[in-house]
Amino acid sequence: MAALPANGTIRTLTAREMPLLREHLLRLDSASRRDRFNGAADERFIESYAARCLADGTVVIAYVEDDKVLGAAELHQPDSSDGGMPEIAFSVERSVRRKGVGTILFRRLIAEAEGRGYRSLRITTGYSNGAMRALANKFGAHLTFRQGESTGSIDLKQQKQPELGKPSSAVSKAVRASVSFNRAWWKLLWGMSGWGRAAQPRAE
Ligand SMILES: CC(C)(COP(=O)(O)OP(=O)(O)OC[C@H]1O[C@@H](n2cnc3c(N)ncnc32)[C@H](O)[C@@H]1OP(=O)(O)O)[C@@H](O)C(=O)NCCC(=O)NCCS
Repeated sequence: MAALPANGTIRTLTAREMPLLREHLLRLDSASRRDRFNGAADERFIESYAARCLADGTVVIAYVEDDKVLGAAELHQPDSSDGGMPEIAFSVERSVRRKGVGTILFRRLIAEAEGRGYRSLRITTGYSNGAMRALANKFGAHLTFRQGESTGSIDLKQQKQPELGKPSSAVSKAVRASVSFNRAWWKLLWGMSGWGRAAQPRAE
């Protein structure tokens, strides 16, 4: 997979920055809007949707380039009518797709959700939305198909934490180097002091 574009950053939007989400969603072309909202979404719909995100405290983790939001991961507060599962949604503008932006946003969103103590997340996408289904599958979503939509849940207890669980190769190398240094040091010490030598028969 290609690296994240060099000139962008990933961060959580503040309440004052929420208009950037609205502008991002308005820039999506009609096919992308349909994929994002599982149906047609005109400007009025997007305006009121973005206003609702601000009002209800939706967390937005954004991919930002030159003060423009080009990608967003939304973490919606759990709704009591929906079994208490927080809903998540993603959108990445065409100019920066297939560069790993969606994957990084997903990873950051999972960390945010875990930090808030959520146990699972809900995602809904159109059945024909191969990109979103593939992205969700990367994070272990179990999607089921019903009435043109795939709804899935992501179990946060099952998420791997590669950064914490497995040391990076640089860290592993440093650990290996320190182990072999220690081994060499003890060998030298043993050789100098005679420790560990086999007992020699004493000449009478
Ligand atoms: C779905 C979406 C967010 C993916 O964003 P992205 O930044 O392109 O995603 P990534 O580059 O991280 O790709 C992640 C994985 O998704 C899959 N994928 C992405 N685009 C794909 C496509 N067009 N076809 C098939 N698989 C695709 C790949 O498996 C990819 O992993 P890989 O590159 O390691 O093979 C983006 O296509 C989008 O915004 N679509 C319109 C809005 C939408 O559908 N939102 C979902 C509703 S919740």
